[in-house]
This record gives sequence, C-alpha cells and structure tokens, in this order.
Amino acid sequence: AFVPLDKIVSLCKRRGFVYPNSEIYGGISGVYDFGPLGVELRNNIRRYWWWSMVQTQDNVVGIEGAILTHPRVWEASGHVENFVDRLVECKTCKKRFRVDHLPPENLEQRKCPNDGGELMEPRTFNLLMETYLGVVEDDRVKTYLRGEACQNIYLDFMNVVKSSRMKIPFGICQIGKAFRNEVTPGNFLFRQREFEQWDLQFFVHPSEMQQWFDYWKQRRFEWYRGLINHKDRLRLREHGPDELAHYARQAFDIEYQTILGWQEWEGIHWRQDWDLSRHSQYSGEDLSYVDEVTKERYIPWIVETSGGVDRTFLYLLLDAYEEQPDPQGKSGETRTVLHLHPMLAPVKVAVFPLKRNNEELVKLARGIYERLRRLMVAQYDDTGSIGRLYRRQDEIGTPYCVTVDFQSLEDKTVTVRDRDTMTQVRVAIEELPAYLLERVTW
Ligand code: GAP
Repeated sequence: AFVPLDKIVSLCKRRGFVYPNSEIYGGISGVYDFGPLGVELRNNIRRYWWWSMVQTQDNVVGIEGAILTHPRVWEASGHVENFVDRLVECKTCKKRFRVDHLPPENLEQRKCPNDGGELMEPRTFNLLMETYLGVVEDDRVKTYLRGEACQNIYLDFMNVVKSSRMKIPFGICQIGKAFRNEVTPGNFLFRQREFEQWDLQFFVHPSEMQQWFDYWKQRRFEWYRGLINHKDRLRLREHGPDELAHYARQAFDIEYQTILGWQEWEGIHWRQDWDLSRHSQYSGEDLSYVDEVTKERYIPWIVETSGGVDRTFLYLLLDAYEEQPDPQGKSGETRTVLHLHPMLAPVKVAVFPLKRNNEELVKLARGIYERLRRLMVAQYDDTGSIGRLYRRQDEIGTPYCVTVDFQSLEDKTVTVRDRDTMTQVRVAIEELPAYLLERVTW
C-alpha cells in the first residue's frame, strides 16, 4: 500500500521538515519553507548529488548562476513562445484542470471530472514568472525569473571552456532555484511554483551523442535506485512524440510510483544543438567549439539530466515512511519510522542518559554528545522514557541512538540501537565516533 500524502504533510509540519509559506496570511499556493530538520535533509540530498556528480568526476565541473538573466535568454531558449500550459475551468465548481491531465472523454464532451459541470473553452498560459529590473517606471526592463535553471550553463559554456581548460566530452553541473507559474500547483512539494533543480549538461561531439545519452540515462537511474527501499517502484519511461519538450529530440523520464501514480522524478533529455545554436543566433556570439587535435569546429550536442531537489525530498520521505506494530509498546501501538538512507538522515545520532536525575549518567551522556556533534548532526534528549525517546527519533529517521546506562560508568561502553532492526550492541565510548562515521557518511 502506498503512503497517503497527508501522512507526510502532517509529519513534515509536526516535526519541522516543511511549513506552508506565509501561513499566518493564509498561505500561498505552491510555495513552501523548510524547517530545522528539513534544511538538514535537503542539504544532505544536495551535497550527495554534488559529490556524486561533480567532486568525484574528472570530466564534470560545477557552477552557480544567477536567478535573473537577460530577457533575450528566454526568447532564445524558446520559453517565451513554447513554455505554455493549456487550462480549462468548470462553469459550476470553478475547478481548473490542465488540458493534458484531463481524461480524453472529459475533454471531448467538455464535462468536468469533478462535478459533471460544463467546461469552458481551453485557455493558454505562459509559465514564465515575470519580474522587472530598475526602479524608474520608464526605465524598467521586463525579464523573467528562470523557468529552468539550466540556461545559465549554456550562457557560461564558453567561459568554462576558456577558464577551466575542459575538453569535450565534459559536463557542467548546477543546483539552483527555478520558478514556474504552474496553473495547477499541488500535491505538496510535487508541483510548486518555486522549486529547485539539479542539472547536468554534458557536451559531446555529435557522433558520440547516443553513447553518452545511454550512459547518463543508466547512471542516473542507478543513482536513484541506490537511495530507495522500494526498488520496484522505479522505472525508466521513454517520452512519446507528443510529450517531448520543445528543446528535446528524445527523452526518458526516471519515474517513481507513489499514491500519485507513476510520475517523473528526473528527465534525461537529448537536447542536441538546440541551446548553443539558438544562443549563438540570438546573441550574435559564436558558441562553437574547436577540437584542438582534429581542428574540427562544431556546435556541441548536449545530454541533459535534470531532476528536482524538492521532488527528491518528497519521494524519499514517501519511500522511507512506515507505520509498524510496536514490538516494545503496548498491544495495538504503532511506531512510525523513516527508513531514510543513514547518509541522508537529518540527525545521525541521538544520545540519552538512562536516568535524567542521575548526575553521573547525565555528565557522561552530555560529554559524548558534545564530542559527537562536532563530527555529525547529533541531538541530546532526556525529556522522556527511553522508549519514548526512541520513537521520537524513529519518526525523524535518526539511524542510531546511544544510551548511557549504569554499565557505561563501569566499563566505558554504551548501547547503540539501530533504527531499522531495533537491535542493540555495546560499543566502547572511545570507538563510538569511528563506529558511527563509518555508517553515516558516503
Ligand atoms: N531543464 C529541463 C527541465 O527543466 P523539467 O522536466 O521541466 O525539465 C526537471 O524539470 C525536473 O524538475 C523534474 O523532473 C522535476 O523533478 C522538477 N520539477 C519540474 N517542475 C516542478 C515543479 N513545478 N515543482 C517541483 N519540481 C518540479
């Protein structure tokens, strides 16, 4: 059975992962804030991607571009013309639907899937978010918040070639915010108006396009597979010709199955020479590349892998969430546990004294906590029974809990309890940092 979305929404709010943005004003549709645990999880997710895609790759470098760009960028990219959604509204219930999300029979009969009411004529909306540069009305220039983060990579392509001596085939990565005036934001973090993307743009000679497209498609699939518990809920699906984005000649989605059905997690796009050719044409700058050995001059072709940080955040929580009968609780009690990969968990270890009113236990537990927190995100807690403290940590996915008991005072060992198996082992206090680091880092 799939985890209902409201379980995740409620956990996120209750435990400080995600809050609705501007909540005291009634919220704003499709915009969220990340709380203390959310920001840790999000940073871990980002850092792991950056480590896998940039820091451990000889042929990939990273950049961080601005959210604002010259307005002509979005004409060249094709977004001003093509980045549109078609929308229909029901005359009676006023609900809005994206035309491409409506069942064909409803569209044909103009019948609302919600209340059977009559649907109005479809209207077209551009998804780019407009903004203005300059303070004086007459001098103000209209531009756009970036509708896809990757455009900076094409704009900086020549700068990277000249300043970093990268030779094709090579890639440029970036993680950054993107903005879309989605007409139907919803399903929590799944479809937002402000969200974050991670992109690799890999530049190749046209003759090597197929080989690199296959390589990155497979590699990205395996990367996601390594992070999830439900391996059978991940698949690759090729886009049909009517689904292709305006810049793509071929595309695969890495999809994950949840209560929302099979939906995109990351797109692998065969962008060919679309971007560099268009930016050459619109800017008047020659963005062709010269091979130093063969002296051939050509516009590089591009393999894009483009995924969502927020969607990863949501999917990993949906994948990790479990409510199980609590073997240590009273009959009928459940424990909620997040089986997050230990390297991504927001808190790595929690330290408890067995008795909070025993000075010696508290002193030793505090000392262990102070030492561990320099190495990883740790929490100290003595505000409940040990069973309760375990449950609290299970719910936020903390992989290890350390308890300091009376035996610890004698033999300088502690119990380390594993979140998933709930088994406990005794570990020497001296060895605790190495024991944990080995299990929670990548
Ligand atoms: N540069 C290519 C591009 O932007 P996309 O398929 O439109 O392609 C890439 O977006 C990824 O960004 C998606 O796979 C998804 O994970 C994420 N994404 C797209 N729109 C989103 C939205 N409104 N809210 C959250 N994530 C979104």
